[in-house]
Amino acid sequence: MKLEEIVPWGRNLAEYRQMFNLSDGDLCQRILGCGDGPASFNAQMTQLGHQVTSIDPLYAFSPEEIRQRFEDTYPTIIYQLQKQSSRYVWQNFRDPEDLGRVRRETMELFLEDYPQGKLAGRYIARSLPQTRFGNREFDLCLCSHLLFLYSDLLSLDMHIASIDELLRVGLQVRIFPLVTLDGEISPYVEPIRHRFQQLGYQVKISTVAYEFQRGGNQMLTIHP
Ligand SMILES: C[S@@+](CC[C@H](N)C(=O)[O-])C[C@H]1O[C@@H](n2cnc3c(N)ncnc32)[C@H](O)[C@@H]1O
Repeated sequence: MKLEEIVPWGRNLAEYRQMFNLSDGDLCQRILGCGDGPASFNAQMTQLGHQVTSIDPLYAFSPEEIRQRFEDTYPTIIYQLQKQSSRYVWQNFRDPEDLGRVRRETMELFLEDYPQGKLAGRYIARSLPQTRFGNREFDLCLCSHLLFLYSDLLSLDMHIASIDELLRVGLQVRIFPLVTLDGEISPYVEPIRHRFQQLGYQVKISTVAYEFQRGGNQMLTIHP
């Protein structure tokens, strides 16, 4: 993967809690974060004594390269948010600049933790659909702003292979949001719900407290 293809825009622990409806009990599970990028979830969870492993191809890059990529993409993202502001819910963030400030703070928290987290094996440069973990190494696999969101770039087969893999290495998979970048429900949601139900899994769509993309307030949960 080329760094130019990645938008290093990450969310924090409070946002992860809302997106995935994480209870206090959930936080104490062995968690795999897929495509965590420059989110501060792992850093903040580790500070609280919890156990999170994050995989992302971004972790092949140095802190300086990740920060530079953030700064390079920043003006374009802010401009797009301003241009399409009616597509978003401006409740937790006043305006695009406010959101940008929070995203920068989040990335700085991540970068502070990144060198030691890499040494500890908490940040691993790896890409779905292969994780190379053993069976049931995790209780909870979380995937935020990757599957479904990038349905125009990632095929249905890639989605299925990724979820198969996460159900192998974890007991439960949660994916958020179910909308694409246009804010429309991903065309893969129904085929995936159908496939995993047919295979005998419990598949549930829940409304969660987090909504930034208008209509993007649903999470998919799959478990045996
Ligand atoms: C928009 S960011 C979301 C970051 C974080 N999950 C959050 O919500 O704050 C998407 C992330 O997915 C990562 N990514 C892209 N392809 C991936 C793959 N095949 N497997 C794992 N991560 C991937 C990117 O590098 C990027 O960091």
